[in-house]
Amino acid sequence: MKKLLSASVMCADLLDIRNSVKELERAGIDLLHLDIMDGSFVPNITLGFDMVNAIKSVTDIPLDVHMMVNNPAGFIDMMNLGKDDYICIHYEGDIHAQRTLAKIRDKGCKTGLALNPQTPVNCYEHLTDYMDMALVMTVCPGFAGQKIFAGAKEKVAKTREFLDNLGKYDIPIEVDGNISPKNGAMLSKVGAEIFVLGTSSLFIKGKDMKESADSFRSVL
Ligand code: DX5
Ligand code: ZN
Repeated sequence: MKKLLSASVMCADLLDIRNSVKELERAGIDLLHLDIMDGSFVPNITLGFDMVNAIKSVTDIPLDVHMMVNNPAGFIDMMNLGKDDYICIHYEGDIHAQRTLAKIRDKGCKTGLALNPQTPVNCYEHLTDYMDMALVMTVCPGFAGQKIFAGAKEKVAKTREFLDNLGKYDIPIEVDGNISPKNGAMLSKVGAEIFVLGTSSLFIKGKDMKESADSFRSVL
């Protein structure tokens, strides 16, 4: 699979999102990563469903919605999304993850299942038939600007091995949190294919987004 760049919109200028989206289009970004929080699953609140729908209405870049919420099922139908958009839920936030993943597919969207740093890789077991992407959190979710956790490389390698052993070669691994060019290169080598780019690589004051995206691509 081609390696994909997913821009973390919560790191953009929140007072100028329309222009940021235009700049991200110009930079050739593959996906827009939208972090949805509920102040309960994570101790923060950023973007909401109206913002997801507003962004969807002004761009053709597929969305990559990361639901950092407890019990996400009730929110799925609030989003007007299509077949190229991902809706990713957290294993830890949903005791009925299988049913919610099936619901996302019924809606016609692609699914993702996220694991926090300390959640074991084998939690993906029994759910891979419902997954179009595996999101391996490389920081505890909720805030930009954190430091990658010590076991990130091992976790990504282990996840790739786990999926391959089940014959799930086509489920890509997404990595999210402190994905600098250096960390991105390290994780690419062990199997990461979708990279969430935030303050560590793409949204850097005074730096052109296209240049940052191009230089990130060159290290993969
Ligand atoms: C996670 C968010 C953040 C962030 C990524 O919950 O998705 O990880 O936007 O950007 P960094 O870590 O580079 O600031
Ligand atoms: Zn995220």
